[in-house]
Amino acid sequence: MRVGVFDSGVGGLTVTKSLIEHRLFDEIVYFGDTAHVPYGTKDAKTIIKYSLEALEFLKSFDIDMLIVACNTASAHALEELRKNASFEVFGVIEPGVLAAINALHDKRSSILVLGTKATIASGQYEKLLIKKGYENILSLSPSLFVPIVEEGLFEGDVLESAIEHYFGGIKQNPDAVILGCTHFPLIAKAIQNYFPKSTLIHSGDAIVEYLQTKCHLLPKASATTLKLLASDNLEGVKKTAKIWLHGLI
Ligand code: DGL
Repeated sequence: MRVGVFDSGVGGLTVTKSLIEHRLFDEIVYFGDTAHVPYGTKDAKTIIKYSLEALEFLKSFDIDMLIVACNTASAHALEELRKNASFEVFGVIEPGVLAAINALHDKRSSILVLGTKATIASGQYEKLLIKKGYENILSLSPSLFVPIVEEGLFEGDVLESAIEHYFGGIKQNPDAVILGCTHFPLIAKAIQNYFPKSTLIHSGDAIVEYLQTKCHLLPKASATTLKLLASDNLEGVKKTAKIWLHGLI
């Protein structure tokens, strides 16, 4: 089975990592829309337009399924993508919510949702969580985390100050922190250090769990092959993939 994985840039590689580790597919065709990144600061109309263009591009690679490994595109474009595809299209928000719920048994649990401005503005995480009976939700858009990750600053003073800047006002460890942006797993260690008692929810692990339980996908006998594509600076994407997917590709 050949799956298309799409993100606004390199963030979706964190989801790709989980997919490769679990050998759910024979082949992954990854497309990073690096010519248009970031999506997180754009309005819904633009995010939908870019996402549909990405879908059309990936269709030419004969994919059997599409995973939208971008929370921002999942929040705004999922419905339109599904209308325009003849194969299944999965986003990362519903799997993230289900993973959070699986980790939290008390409906009064406190949940911190982190995402881009566009993801948070969509209210998608909150809507689904509230539907499931969870109402103790705080949503935050730590915009500086995306460029910090892209700079490879996974630890150190710059990251620590940004974390303090955004989380300083939160006095108690939330029961769960949803990393609702595919860049954020790369700084999960620092976020976990700040909130040592919180359960962190990662889009990659969440979609793997979702595909295993809902689609009954089983691990393949041989390793997943990866084809990397980008709308700009493919060399940069390949370089990042080599570092982030170290030992897997
Ligand atoms: N990877 C995107 C997401 O998960 C964030 C980066 C962007 O703003 O394009 O929402």
